[in-house]
Amino acid sequence: MSATILDGKLVSSAKREEIKHTVSGMNEKPGLAVIIVGDDPASKIYVRNKRRGCEEVGFNSWVYEMPATTTQKELDDKIDELNEKNDVHGILVQLPLPAHLCESEVTERIVPEKDVDAFTSQNCGHILKGDAHLLPCTPAGIMEILKYYKIDVSGKECVVVGRSNIVGKPMAQLLLAADGTVTICHSRTKNLADVTKRADILVSAVGKAHFITRDMVKSGAVVIDVGMNRDENGKQTGDVDFDAVSEIASYITPVPGGVGPMTISMLLQNTLAAAMNIMNWRGSLQ
Ligand code: GUN
Repeated sequence: MSATILDGKLVSSAKREEIKHTVSGMNEKPGLAVIIVGDDPASKIYVRNKRRGCEEVGFNSWVYEMPATTTQKELDDKIDELNEKNDVHGILVQLPLPAHLCESEVTERIVPEKDVDAFTSQNCGHILKGDAHLLPCTPAGIMEILKYYKIDVSGKECVVVGRSNIVGKPMAQLLLAADGTVTICHSRTKNLADVTKRADILVSAVGKAHFITRDMVKSGAVVIDVGMNRDENGKQTGDVDFDAVSEIASYITPVPGGVGPMTISMLLQNTLAAAMNIMNWRGSLQ
C-alpha cells in the first residue's frame, strides 16, 4: 500500500480563492498589521510571505520593522496604537522576540478581536470551550486539510505528539471538538511507540527529523507532519520518516507542501473573520 499525499498547496489555494471571492464583495478591505522585531532571517521570510498572502487576496497589510533594541514600552505602545486603528482588523507580532522582550505580555496586549494568531488567554479559553471565532492557524489548517479530503475525525483515535501552546495543545482541542478521542504525548511520555501505534490520526509537532519511524505507525493511519526541520544534508524535512511511513499510512502530508502552506491561508481566514466581526459590530453601533 502507498499513502495518498495530502496536498496542502492545493487546499491552501482553494481557501485563498474563497477568501478573495468574499473580499471582492466587501465595501471595506480587511487589514492585517504585522510587527517584526530584530532581523531574524527566518522570521523575515515568514513575514514577507504573510504580506504576499495579503496582497494575493486583496487585503491591506502593514509591516512594522522594529530594531532588535526596541524596548518593551516601545513595543507595547505600537500594539496600543494598532489596537485603536479602525482599518487594522488583525495584529500579529512575529515570534520569537529578542530575549529581553516578554512574549506573553506582548501577545496578551493585542485586543482579542484582532488576535489573529489566537494566542490571547481569552481566545485560548474560547478554543477550550469550543466556541472560538479565531482559531490557531496551524491546527486550523490541519483541520481544513482533513475536511478537504473528507477524513472524518469523529470517534477516531487521535494522537498528538508535542504539547506546545502554538500547535500541540490547540490541535488536541480542535480534534476533540470534532469528536475525536484524543491523546497528547510529549517528551516524558512512556512507551511512546505503543501510544502512537494506536492512532487512526497521528499528528507530529516535535521538531526532530526522522522522529516518527515506520514502527510507530499503525497500518492505514492518517499521518500529519507539522515538523519543519533540516536533515543531515540540509534538506527540508518534517518529523516523519516519509519514505518508510508512506508505505503503510493511508494518507500523509509531505514536507514541504503539506501543513506549511495552510498556515498563512488560515491567518488570512482569521483576518477576514476578525474584519467581518469588527465591521458588523461597528455597523450595529451606527
Ligand atoms: N513564529 C513562528 N510561527 C508563528 C506563528 O504562528 N505566529 C507568530 N506570531 N509567530 C510565529
